[in-house]
Amino acid sequence: MCGIIGYVGRDLCIPKIISGLEALEYRGYDSAGIAYVENKKIKIIKEKGKIANLKKLLDFNANTNLGIAHTRWATHGAASKTNAHPHSVNSFTIVHNGIIENYSELKESLIKKGYIFKSETDTEVACAVIADLYKEKKDILLSLNAATKVFRGSYALGIICADDKNTLYAMRNTSPLIVATSPSGNFIASDVPAILKYTNKYILLDDLEIAKITADNITIYNKDLNIVKKEIKTFEGTFEAAAKNGYEHFMLKEINEQDKVFSDTVNYYFDGSIASLKKNFAFLDKFSKIDIVACGSAYHTGLVGKCLIEKYASIPVNVEVASEYRYKKCFYDNDTLVILVSQSGETADTLAALRKAKSDGITTMAIVNVVGSSIAREADHVIYIKAGCEIAVATTKAYLAQLAIFSLLSIYLGYKNKGIKKSELEKIFTDLKKLPKLIKNTINYSELYFDIADKIYKNKQIFFIGRGIDYALSMEGSLKLKEISYINSVAYQAGELKHGTISLIEKNTPVIALATDTELIEKTISNIKEVKARGAYVIYVSNEEPREKFYDELILLPCIHPILESILTIIPLQLLAYKVAKNNKCDIDQPRNLAKSVTVE
Ligand code: G6P
Repeated sequence: MCGIIGYVGRDLCIPKIISGLEALEYRGYDSAGIAYVENKKIKIIKEKGKIANLKKLLDFNANTNLGIAHTRWATHGAASKTNAHPHSVNSFTIVHNGIIENYSELKESLIKKGYIFKSETDTEVACAVIADLYKEKKDILLSLNAATKVFRGSYALGIICADDKNTLYAMRNTSPLIVATSPSGNFIASDVPAILKYTNKYILLDDLEIAKITADNITIYNKDLNIVKKEIKTFEGTFEAAAKNGYEHFMLKEINEQDKVFSDTVNYYFDGSIASLKKNFAFLDKFSKIDIVACGSAYHTGLVGKCLIEKYASIPVNVEVASEYRYKKCFYDNDTLVILVSQSGETADTLAALRKAKSDGITTMAIVNVVGSSIAREADHVIYIKAGCEIAVATTKAYLAQLAIFSLLSIYLGYKNKGIKKSELEKIFTDLKKLPKLIKNTINYSELYFDIADKIYKNKQIFFIGRGIDYALSMEGSLKLKEISYINSVAYQAGELKHGTISLIEKNTPVIALATDTELIEKTISNIKEVKARGAYVIYVSNEEPREKFYDELILLPCIHPILESILTIIPLQLLAYKVAKNNKCDIDQPRNLAKSVTVE
């Protein structure tokens, strides 16, 4: 959701800034721009489309050591060169990630004061607010600090002022921002991968803090403009981890990492004994009602989590998308736990839902990938998944790792609440050990899924059906397919299709039917026959060899304990979506209109 980066140091800044910006392109890619100081002048270059378009306009040898840049996911105003950042008003030039919610009233009063706006963005208004405050205060820090009291909404800002051309300023509220330090100079960035080529040492900026950064110094001020001492963190990942390593797409690479991601995540909490689960999850003992809140694929893992926790631990679970949850009336009890699920840990709606629950005095727990992200920092308890850097916009390995956590939580709570007996627990533990190998084997069958994709990729619509946990997985399978291939796809509860949507089934309409829950397989098969009778092209995904042929294509999965099965079921759906998108020549890692980290409402 827009990426920003800035550098000030002894090296030429354009190569560093652009390589960092490219690592942030997952956050938005509809236009990009850069501002840098050359011969004591601030130069701004921007272009519509991806960073590659901007690069064509740049002189990488330009004699400049300070600059800021931006890759945009449009919110206010179309994706155009004029609306692209940086924006400039009087002495100030800024890049922005977030939304200034009161921008239109601010704009009105600035227009009355004589300001003229070139773009439709809230960012240009923010820049004018700062410039206007500067007229009165004549001091950059005082003006930036005063602006925090005027802005309503979210922002991470990178700022250059023509009156102080050796200094980079940055400030944030809600939107993520780090300040990083390297031997040759200092950076600001929306996320760590942007600076990993040069350094792994960074500082997390907190809300309402302002950073003043020169080639040799970083000074952070709090909201009272007192200097604060910040911890310098060391990021554990490497730059190579954020590279494609020979794979054609990040998505394919990340799907192939899933056996390792699963092991890393599970082994972090589980050493083969129930005692290890108790040690890590005992804080859950006192809750008897759970709300799971998340967005997108993370919401879908919540749906799987609900099936497992309710079935094995008999705890009622309510799952909601964060953008709805944050504004609705919630019926909390003293023993309610709110679980937030987020790969990035920065999704604005999920963060707002967390804050809502906390302000109502409710205990919160976050399942997060990015260490030190806002949601991780603010939740009462954090369970990290160990997915590493995920670059493809469509999540795969982080989704699977979230499923792994829900399985572990269900095992622990199920055993504690006597929904799982000792003998069953042993079977689960045996299957847990086998799983990394089974994940690898399931991925290795990709030729089968790719063949199926070759047969269906030209269709205009593709349906997914399933019951219970298979329905929850269908939702994710369908999202994966439509987000990267742009083919209309809907997931339905298998029994519900006949109440209207079956009218859309025509000869050869692909229907991907999931049936891995042994208790419901027969019911689902009946529903499959209903669509088959109307000409559907059925792709049947199950862990039980069917006794009759009611399908056109069969994907047979290994049969493991149902508390773990979802971890295998999702894999063919990911690879099917990947190949359908590839055949359709779609931009797999950066699908149109999307961004990986959605830091606006
Ligand atoms: C965006 C991404 C989705 C993701 C969702 C939630 O929409 O495109 O892939 O599932 O945000 O992101 P989070 O970081 O909170 O898991």
